[in-house]
Order: sequence, then C-alpha cells, then structure tokens
Amino acid sequence: MDDWKLDLLIHSGEVVTPDGVRRADVGVRNGRIAAVTDGPSRRAAREVIDAGGKLVLPGGIDPHTHMGIPIKDTHSADDFESGSIAAACGGTTTILDFTVQAPGQTLEESLEDRLEAARGKSHVDFGIHVNVTDQPDRRLREIPGLVARGFNSFKAFTTYKEQGMMIGGEQFRRLLGTVDAEGGLLMLHAEDDETVSRLTRRHVERGEQAPIFHARSRPPEAESLAVENATRIAGELEARLYVVHVSSRAGLEATLRARERGVRVYLETCPQYLVLDEEKYHGANGHRWITTPPLRRAEDAAALWEAVRDGSVDAVGTDHCPFTSAQKDRHRHSFCSVPNGLPGVENRLAMLYTYGVERGRISLEEMVRLLTGDVARIFGIDDRKGSIEVGKDADLLIWDPRPAGLVSADHMHGNADFTPYEGLEQKGRLCHTVLRGRVLVRDGEFVPGQPHGDLLTS
Ligand code: URP
Ligand code: ZN
Ligand code: ZN
Repeated sequence: MDDWKLDLLIHSGEVVTPDGVRRADVGVRNGRIAAVTDGPSRRAAREVIDAGGKLVLPGGIDPHTHMGIPIKDTHSADDFESGSIAAACGGTTTILDFTVQAPGQTLEESLEDRLEAARGKSHVDFGIHVNVTDQPDRRLREIPGLVARGFNSFKAFTTYKEQGMMIGGEQFRRLLGTVDAEGGLLMLHAEDDETVSRLTRRHVERGEQAPIFHARSRPPEAESLAVENATRIAGELEARLYVVHVSSRAGLEATLRARERGVRVYLETCPQYLVLDEEKYHGANGHRWITTPPLRRAEDAAALWEAVRDGSVDAVGTDHCPFTSAQKDRHRHSFCSVPNGLPGVENRLAMLYTYGVERGRISLEEMVRLLTGDVARIFGIDDRKGSIEVGKDADLLIWDPRPAGLVSADHMHGNADFTPYEGLEQKGRLCHTVLRGRVLVRDGEFVPGQPHGDLLTS
C-alpha cells in the first residue's frame, strides 16, 4: 500500500472482514478504507493505532433508536447529541432513527423536523425512517417523493391506538402496498391493539398496576397475532416487511411461519429480549424496565437466541428510548403511566459479544452480520457501510476481547442515569471508535469535538 499517503493505520489487529477473521493492517485515507493488507506495512501514516491482540470490527449500525421523542407526558432523555455520544462509546457509528408525525403533519414536515433535530447534533452518521401514524391514506401520495429522495423505510404501528398512532387493517394494506410498489420497506411494530387494550383495562379495573401487569397486558399472543395479520397481508401483496423488536417465541414463530409460506419478512430483535427477562418486573424498581413490547420469560429469550444462532434473525437493534429514573419513578404507582422505553444504544455490541460470541452461540462474523452487514444491506446503505472493505467508509472499532467486568451505569454516556443491564457480566471493552477516519473514541474515552454525523439516504 502507499503507506505514506495514509491518514490512519490500524496496525496488526484481528480484522473481521466478510471473508473471515485475519491479522491485517487497515489503512484509511480521506475517510475511506484505502487498504486491508496482511503483510508487514511500513506504517508511515499520519497516525498509527496499534491493535495487537485486539479485534478490528466494522462500525455498528443500529437500525432502531428514538432520540428525544414524545412518550406519554415526557420525552425520551437522549437527544441526537447525547445519544450519538453513547452510540459511539458503544461501538455504533450509524444510527437509524424515526420521524415523529404530529397530528395533521405531512410526512415531509415530520421528516424536516427530524432532520432539524439531528443535523449538526449527531456525532455518528444517521438515517431516518419515516413513521406513518396520522391519516395514512392522505399521506400515501407523499411516499414516491420520499423514496426518490432516498428515504425508503417507513414504519407502522398495530398498537398505540389511544395515542392516535395505530394503522388499522385496510389502511395498513394500502400503506404496505404503496411503500412496496415504490421499492420501499415497511417496518412494523407488531402488537395486536385489541388484545392489549382489553387486557390493560382488565388489570387496571382489578387494581393490578404493578410492573408485571405491563407484561401481562401485552402477552406474546398479542405479538404473534399482529405478526400473523400483517404477514398475511404482506403475502397477499407479495410485499416485503420488516418486523421490529420481536420479543417472544410466539412472535418469532409467527414470523418464521410466514417465511415458510414465502413471505419476505425481515426479523429484528433487541439485546433486552436476549439477555433480560420479566423477572425484572418483580424486583426493586421493576417499573424502570417497562418497555414495549415487554420483557418476556427466559424461555422466550432462549428461543430468540436459537433464532440468532441458526441465522433466522436479520438484525439486532436496540430500540434505544431512554428515560431517567426520575422520569420513570414519577409514575411508579401505575404501569400504564410509566414512559415506555429503555436505554441500550451503548450496550449492543458488548451484550452480543459477551452473551453471543463468548458464550459460543455465534461466531464473530455472525455478530458482525447482525450488528452491521445485514442492516446495511436491508436499508440500502451497503455501498458505504457495513463491512471492512476497500472503498467503504472507514467506520472502524477496536475491541479488546480480554477484560472482564460488570455493566454499570457509571460507565455509560447517555442521559439515562441507570442501565437495564446493571450488574450483568461483560467480556471485552471498546477501545477505539473511528467514524470515516475520525477518532470518536480513544482508549475508551469519547473525544469531545464538533458533531460530524452525516445524513445517510439510500
Ligand atoms: O417502549 C418502547 N420501546 N418505546 C419506544 C417506541 C417503540 O414502540 O418502539
Ligand atoms: Zn416499537
Ligand atoms: Zn422503537
């Protein structure tokens, strides 16, 4: 390689590439990967980082975050600035967030609001999925223009009717048909609203307001029923569908059954459904773990791990939607009022590495596929992102696999003052995060500076 022209050289790490793991040097020039070489290099670059004994991974792409969104009577605690610092410190160099469509707003208006919130604030690159929650039929005509601008992922909810966000049967069919016909991808939050509303009412009427009744009000059957309904329509339309945050064995099996019928359905799950379970709702401050869908039983997590292991899962996103303990505690008396969502953007790689790779469930390459490669392909950003290959953006991580410790909120960088993973074992530690050749995290510390996150379109 023309070493003298390099801006950065990551020397002698175990580099995880699409062709496998091998000791190599990764050279960076003008924000792109300029070379991946096995042999000794002259190491004449403006900066050399020694990665001896460490792993070099492609920067993570988190397909599912919610920075600063309104939920119940408050807003999620991270904005794009704090949330993107947390992302970088957890090994994520691209976040894909969602618009918030206020009642009466067009999709274009909601997108402009979201772009305004992110531009100049995000330290990592970002893309935006377009939520469709209000008057979907009136908004269909906007979809071709949005896809043409490179915003080709949309999202619908089968629940949150009370909040005015649910898209019902025939509206859902028209939305899915339009998005797919334009070459876009519809993402789906799948919980059957009728089931959830009925059970929530029942528990509240009985005075059952403890955190565990959040889980009882939103059972696995609510997820599987919504998946069944949506995938039936997707099958009839021959449309692609992406089911977000699959949390339960029932939801997983409904998704896999649809695949067996030939429906092209992508499956996302999240670390919280893999490494936590509903016992958290019985513990001290159980209300802080309230998220939607809820944490499930240990058997559900085992089924999801099996699906991760056998390659059925396409992506692991975090659904990062943090609240502080004060925001959560204010409503501790009733599961219905607690703002739903968990911080997690900083824990995704550590949890997948510790409980996936270290526990022998998945290989390093599999982990990278779930955190990066497949996500880039599904959302059409794989020309720039998703793997360590010459010509791609130099989004790189250096991960030391040796340290062993415990997860602690004291080490987190977002605005939430607690982590749902507190006290869990963590194997390995992030040393460096590089975004397009720029070092965002050095020796585990965020490097303060101007945010340089770029908007990604497909
Ligand atoms: O409870 C959660 N996960 N809040 C964020 C919004 C959603 O449904 O993904
Ligand atoms: Zn959701
Ligand atoms: Zn979400």
